[in-house]
Amino acid sequence: MSDTETGTKAVDLPALQADLADLLQLENDTLPMYSVAISALRDPLLKERLRVYREDHERHARDLTALIREMGGVPPVLPHLPTGLLKLGVQMAGLPGGDRTILLGFVSNEWQSREKYARYAAKPYPPAMAALIGSHAADEAVHYAWATEALRALGCGEETLTGQATQAFARMHGSVADVIEGIGRASNEAVLRLTRRP
Ligand SMILES: [Fe+2]
Ligand SMILES: [Fe+2]
Repeated sequence: MSDTETGTKAVDLPALQADLADLLQLENDTLPMYSVAISALRDPLLKERLRVYREDHERHARDLTALIREMGGVPPVLPHLPTGLLKLGVQMAGLPGGDRTILLGFVSNEWQSREKYARYAAKPYPPAMAALIGSHAADEAVHYAWATEALRALGCGEETLTGQATQAFARMHGSVADVIEGIGRASNEAVLRLTRRP
């Protein structure tokens, strides 16, 4: 199969590889934050739920890595450094405030994951890639809905002032990270095009 065809339609391989790499980097950013949040949370039920969701993210990272390799690409091993540190910092800064503050940092990351996967899931990809991204998008929607609900149970629901501030924070924080990651994705794609064999 030529590298411009993966199925019936001709596809833009560097663009597909850059999208997959962007999602894999998002997963690479997310995994250390889960470990920080799991060790910092006090409630064992919250910890347990995050362990289950961390397994989802590990599977996402494995499946994206396999697909990038299948398409002849090289999976990125590093996270998006600037936003990775930013997001980790949000988690660390939340530590003294108890479970509610940790979940506040967590919900902003899950919001960004949900939004980013949903945007990619709406693109016209080859079937196998569309199925994978669609299933990851569904997992991220579950994670975000759970985190929002858990905050509500801790008195931080969307109807409360703190809850509204949390959601505003999540959107602002997630959007800033998206802009930085968008720049990273565009330069990755440019490199993939330049280094592509004719
Ligand atoms: Fe994920
Ligand atoms: Fe998630």
